[in-house]
Amino acid sequence: MDTKVTNSAGLPIDRTYWNPDIDNELLCIDVHQETHDVKTFTFISRDGKHIAFAAGQYFALDVGLRDDLETRCYSISSSPLRTNAISITVKRVVGGKVSNWLHDNLAPGTIVQTSGPLGVFIRPARPNQKYLFLSGGSGITPVMSMARELADAALPVDVIFLHAGRSPGDLVFRSELINLATRLKGFRLYFLPETLTGETSWSGLSGRISRDLFQLIIPDISERVVMCCGPAPFMAAARKISAELGVPTENYIEESFDAVVTEDAPLPSTEQAEHKSFKVEFAMQSRTIDVTPDQTVLSCAKKAGVKIPSSCSNGLCGTCKSKLASGTVDMKHNGGIRQREIDAGFFLPCCSKPLSDLVIER
Ligand code: FES
Repeated sequence: MDTKVTNSAGLPIDRTYWNPDIDNELLCIDVHQETHDVKTFTFISRDGKHIAFAAGQYFALDVGLRDDLETRCYSISSSPLRTNAISITVKRVVGGKVSNWLHDNLAPGTIVQTSGPLGVFIRPARPNQKYLFLSGGSGITPVMSMARELADAALPVDVIFLHAGRSPGDLVFRSELINLATRLKGFRLYFLPETLTGETSWSGLSGRISRDLFQLIIPDISERVVMCCGPAPFMAAARKISAELGVPTENYIEESFDAVVTEDAPLPSTEQAEHKSFKVEFAMQSRTIDVTPDQTVLSCAKKAGVKIPSSCSNGLCGTCKSKLASGTVDMKHNGGIRQREIDAGFFLPCCSKPLSDLVIER
């Protein structure tokens, strides 16, 4: 059925398409081991809808862990031209609650609560545009989605894909990328393992990204749009080198990998975290809940059925911004709130832990 109706994200709405404003359940249909610590999970809409998204976007997954609800955002690694299913690719993080739960428990048949697709790490699609896809570690997922999209579209491309990893055995999608580079004209691939542990016959590049390396393999970098995703130090180096080699600011686009596709190891618990909780009052809903100093206000509110709009759950999007009438919080945001808003008493419940009792104007 064709339709002209679109939702607030400009995506088509009819009964055959996933509507991010109302749909929130994905059914896992496949789990694939990519490397020793990375798995790809593939999902379909629970009621069989197509899922429209842009390469580079992510889904936020809500996972119930014992008595807490944790939300993490994972970039989609599959092609947006294959709308019957979506895949996310997740690295197991030492001490990471959600990544370990996904690796240990998520299996075909499991239903997960989600919101998405979300995010603005989207490739500018200009005619004859040349690209540099630059990824570090499991930051490869959104740019892999872009590479798969270009391959599926069967259009002429001019892409250099440089993927850095800890060792050859850590290079996610290694064989698929080699196949893509073999059959897709205009697609040049470089792997850059930092060490050659476990693979003594490696004949390619190794080490870390550097200005010399970029000048050698990407001499026309200033003419390319750079799409970069990886750990913060990797992106900081890529940003600096790209600027030095003449990439205009507007042509250097990065995803906050540390914020979006990874998770922090849990903070060491403290005496206070184990035994004390604070009263958090939602004044307009006449609700008061208990939140311990190691929990975020949003995760506890969701669990208790208190309504706070949210999407990224990582301090990025600003959706959950709320007014703090009294109390103090420890907020670790990722750009989703401005200093003047903080000064005016606003905060982001998704990335804030209480330091005292709170009253929130919600
Ligand atoms: S939900 Fe995105 S900033 Fe809180």
